[in-house]
Amino acid sequence: MRSHVMLVYCQERIDAARFSVNDAILRWFAISRGNTFQFMKHDNYVIDDMLSAKAIAARVESMAQEISEYFRDTEKLVVIGLLRGSFMFIADLVRELSLPVEVDFLETSSYGDSMESSREVRILKDLRGEIKGRDILVVEDIVDTGHTLNHVVGLLRSREPGRMMVCALLDKPTRREVDVRADIVGFEIPDKFVVGYGIDYAQRNRNLPYIGAVRFTD
Ligand code: IMP
Ligand code: MG
Repeated sequence: MRSHVMLVYCQERIDAARFSVNDAILRWFAISRGNTFQFMKHDNYVIDDMLSAKAIAARVESMAQEISEYFRDTEKLVVIGLLRGSFMFIADLVRELSLPVEVDFLETSSYGDSMESSREVRILKDLRGEIKGRDILVVEDIVDTGHTLNHVVGLLRSREPGRMMVCALLDKPTRREVDVRADIVGFEIPDKFVVGYGIDYAQRNRNLPYIGAVRFTD
């Protein structure tokens, strides 16, 4: 009986040791590849989970269905991604669209390394193609104060496209300063600074497969 208890105890110790070795290898592997985990500190902040990769994928699929339905009779849809934050979203979204599509990109001035909108929007990179008379889908990562989307929508409208739809993965409605809305929103989120799934904080954390909120630790 005693030897049996000893045996179980030893087995537990071996399992625990094996687990912590595996864990250390996994962490080292993730860190060496530039990935980040929730428990990792980034200088002075941690990232709290907000939307899992699975929840994002499910929502992207349902948004794509809605968009495909709306543009079902289009000759070809021009999907316009707003760089850089929407690159992951646009990549997943176009794969779920059951329509003929073209992809183009527009880059506007960003927050730089700050967490505050500059409120002054400049076009850093314009579209390659013409959109006059064509159906377009504008793909944005987050609508925050609304200045960026407002400016972009005004600019694209002035080029007289056919039908235009705006889709945003995230919306922070409580932060709005100008009256602008996306036609389809993936998730409404609270007033928190988020990263992951293409979205950055000072160019970091874009490669996270999920979305999390930045929380400062000092
Ligand atoms: P807006 O002009 O204030 O609506 O800001 C829009 C842009 O700011 C978004 O396209 C994002 O690139 C960036 N942004 C807004 N909120 C966040 C955030 O929580 N994390 C990272 N970038 C953000
Ligand atoms: Mg953006």
